Amino acid sequence: MSSSSSSSFVALILLLLAMIGKGQGRVDVRRIPADFSIGTSTSAHQVEGGWTADGKGQSIWDNFTHTRADRIRDGSNVDKGCDHYHKYKEDIELLGEHGFDHYRFSLSWSRLLPTGRPDNVNRAAVRFYHGILDELERRNVTPYVTIYHWDHPQVLEDELGGWLNESMARVFAEYARFVYEEFGPRVRTFTTINEPYVNCYFGYGTGAYAPGRRQPGLGEYQCVHNQLKGHALAYRIYDRDFRARQRGRVGIVNVCFQYYAKYPQQAELAERAFEFECGWTSQPIFGPEGDYPEVMKKTIAEKSRREGRNSSRLPEFSPEWIEIIKGSSDYFGLNHYSAMLVEELPPGLRVDAVDVQMMTQDADLLKSYDPKWPGTESSWLKIVPEGIRDVLNSIRKKYGNPPVYIMECGTSDGNGLDDNLRVKYLHSYMQQVLLAKKRDKCDVRAFTIWSFLDSFEWNSGYTEHFGLVQVDFNDENRKRTPKNSMAWLKTVLQSRQLLQPISLLPKFDELKL
Ligand code: NOJ
Repeated sequence: MSSSSSSSFVALILLLLAMIGKGQGRVDVRRIPADFSIGTSTSAHQVEGGWTADGKGQSIWDNFTHTRADRIRDGSNVDKGCDHYHKYKEDIELLGEHGFDHYRFSLSWSRLLPTGRPDNVNRAAVRFYHGILDELERRNVTPYVTIYHWDHPQVLEDELGGWLNESMARVFAEYARFVYEEFGPRVRTFTTINEPYVNCYFGYGTGAYAPGRRQPGLGEYQCVHNQLKGHALAYRIYDRDFRARQRGRVGIVNVCFQYYAKYPQQAELAERAFEFECGWTSQPIFGPEGDYPEVMKKTIAEKSRREGRNSSRLPEFSPEWIEIIKGSSDYFGLNHYSAMLVEELPPGLRVDAVDVQMMTQDADLLKSYDPKWPGTESSWLKIVPEGIRDVLNSIRKKYGNPPVYIMECGTSDGNGLDDNLRVKYLHSYMQQVLLAKKRDKCDVRAFTIWSFLDSFEWNSGYTEHFGLVQVDFNDENRKRTPKNSMAWLKTVLQSRQLLQPISLLPKFDELKL
């Protein structure tokens, strides 16, 4: 090739590369933008322990694990747990050393307000949470504070019937007011309620979670209804009385799986599945018209009529409540772990007769997993990285591209310190999130890994290990040991590059040399 033809050949290649680049919106997907926050998360009941320390009241989970140990896979409880109550300084030092941008944790309502109401404040608990905030400040880690992560005071369950009672919404809002007053000057990001869907479905529907009530098809709907009201009241209080001075943001955290139709000719079923889960608790807040998804209202009303009821099992919001709830969130808090396949529920099949956990009866859906999806230590959690990008795009399209804070994403991994499965999971999911942000222009602003510590996994007890850090529960001192994933994350956080984990690189003998 002459030198002129070789230079035009090079020019042609460059032109082609530029065209391909343009077509795909070429961006440096590995670079983690400075304003994209990466953190990790826990919740009070799952890690704190100290269940009676310094005047703490009982929560529904204390009561449930003590009275219904048969419903916890290993019969365990969190009387001591990770003992984070006494070891928080050491824990936060680890967070700081590894360079996390933020730490998401929740407040224990019964520790702060043993009677559930602000008439009796436990000052020791207030000091404890200020201690956490002090340590985070010292280590330059931003706090994200969840006000309620499933552990309300038992006394509210006994007196009011918990979330089945509408007045719980007001009691919760007063608790939130107390939290803003006490901690608001130091916290910019509040979450009112974590995953209404899951805690209502298992707490008041199937009874697998505290408070263990079994009223499927009724209890979960009533509970979500009251939690959405409680959330919205708490949001409006912040807006009216605190926002101007505290300049923070308040939102809700919803769980959204990604659903795929098992048979391509049934594509509309994926949409139905989305509405019956993510849409149920999202549309009332983020949908342009508010209120529950039409498909839920219609289907449940029809079924209720056929059952001989004179009102729908799905409660109705008054026009006033629709307005109060609509728009009551400064961000979309997303918990996402996995995906499922859906198909039409065969007539006559009761969902509880098959091994599918999630509520599908009213949706007339049967859920399953693609056998090609790699499994994890949790039966419900399969690895489907593209699912998170698809969910982010659904949120963008349905709800007008709200700012999304991913508040939980992660996997269980039963391989102790050698948690290469977790590293692969996190690498592939974070890659999809960056694609959604950079290529699809989803306004996603934070990624929070569940979880910081191995901890109490609700009715699975200590049998599933979600932590980046191992906790030795046989050791009186609850020794912490960071797993391999922590070392990888440290390099990611330092370089602000989504580096290929060593475990994903080809082995030496696989290289074509
Ligand atoms: C969601 C919940 O918020 C959290 O408490 C739980 O441990 C994880 N999912 C994993 O199941």
